[in-house]
Amino acid sequence: MPSDALPPGPKGTLIAGNLREFARDRLDFYVKLAREYGDLSSFRFGPFRRVFLANHPDLIEQVLVTDAKHYIKHFGARNYMPVLGNGLVTSEGDFWLRQRRLSQPAFLKQRVLDYAPVMTDLTNAMLARWRTGTAVSVHTEFGALTSAIALKTLFGLDDPGDRAAFVERLRAAFLLLTGRFEKLVNFPLWVPTPHNVRIRRAVAHLRRVVDGFIATARARKEPGNDLLSRLVAAQDHDGSRMTEDQIRDEAMTLYLAGHETTALTLAWSWFLLAKHPDAERKLVEEWARVLGGRAPTTDDLHNLPYTDAVLAESMRVYPAVYLIGREATKDLELGGYRVRKGYTVFMSQWVTHRDPRYFGPDPDAFRPERWLDGLAKRLPKYAYFPFGGGPRVCIGNTFALMEAAIILATVGQRYRFTVDTEEVGTNPQITLLPANGIPATLQAR
Ligand code: HEM
Repeated sequence: MPSDALPPGPKGTLIAGNLREFARDRLDFYVKLAREYGDLSSFRFGPFRRVFLANHPDLIEQVLVTDAKHYIKHFGARNYMPVLGNGLVTSEGDFWLRQRRLSQPAFLKQRVLDYAPVMTDLTNAMLARWRTGTAVSVHTEFGALTSAIALKTLFGLDDPGDRAAFVERLRAAFLLLTGRFEKLVNFPLWVPTPHNVRIRRAVAHLRRVVDGFIATARARKEPGNDLLSRLVAAQDHDGSRMTEDQIRDEAMTLYLAGHETTALTLAWSWFLLAKHPDAERKLVEEWARVLGGRAPTTDDLHNLPYTDAVLAESMRVYPAVYLIGREATKDLELGGYRVRKGYTVFMSQWVTHRDPRYFGPDPDAFRPERWLDGLAKRLPKYAYFPFGGGPRVCIGNTFALMEAAIILATVGQRYRFTVDTEEVGTNPQITLLPANGIPATLQAR
């Protein structure tokens, strides 16, 4: 019988619960919870929202896999529905299953491999614009590149040119929505508070832009090789297709989920490499040996183990998605405790990826070598989960890993980055942003 007591956790105040410590430093808050209270702890957002933090791989597996059908996405993810609509990240139940089935073929490995030349060409186009000695924000540069790749592969579109403004609006919309996360009281979006009016304006703008992407893609006489064309053509086994609204929500979701996370993974990787010249030297040696100065083809990707190890280690230390959550749809058991219907369970990549039981003795250290001796096979499955797991595992993981490896090897053979600051702070929003974009100088090799 599960215990009706709550797992241990910090006390918090009557009304705000633990919101204040959370708002002060989210990552530190989660790390301290795990360190002080163990594999399953509990805290409160506001007077009523009870949250468990699960950080043992078996507990994570139970939530994401074994009991997946009794959980839905958590309240924080639902907060993003004004932007993401009922797309794959936010939808639930039979509707989600149908959309996932319709989308899945477009993400099969064989299909994803077709996008490699686009990734290489757009990376080379970026390199042609770069000049040695230029000061850049690493996050902005790779955000622009992965956005261009997403537009081309998802919608068959060339970068419309006003991308920077669009991405700024996107970030603004997400910051506004994330701001709701920390508030004790949130008015529904239809209440015209100044905050809500700003959110609604930003969302309306984003929708217009994405509708424009879709209209341009549809206006083509021949359906392209892009994901959108495939989604439009996709049929469920009963012969039904997606409606216009569904296509818009999926397009917005895939564009967003499909570029910012990979941009962050690359930005954090370059930051770590700039701080670990030994690892960078080994990478350059691997590329010289296998590629000899040319961009990698999909066949080369099997022969770049150190490149894979660098990406795996960078996603361990700075996971672009650092927290996922689920809400129980009925009373459940977890780690001997009762998870009541409506309770939220958080699982944090930031915390579990630093657990000394799996990544000790120095879990904070960036050491790609740890992945070269079969660590991935020895680890409990959910000690490392940069792409989540279970039925809601990231649909774009093959796409992302291939894109990140191609970009890393193509850029890294021509340029390196010198990062002037010793430490770059983290800014955990929906994804793990670098606090100041990682300012660096381009140095030709
Ligand atoms: C390094 C890059 C990426 C990381 C770290 C990442 C991480 C994740 C994680 C952790 C989830 C699960 C969220 C949850 O369980 O609540 C997820 C879901 C998802 N990701 Fe990714 N992702 C990446 C790249 C991509 C790309 C390139 C695409 C598309 C082109 C994509 C599309 C999606 C979608 C649609 C979902 C929702 C799937 C569903 O619920 O059925 N992601 N991602």
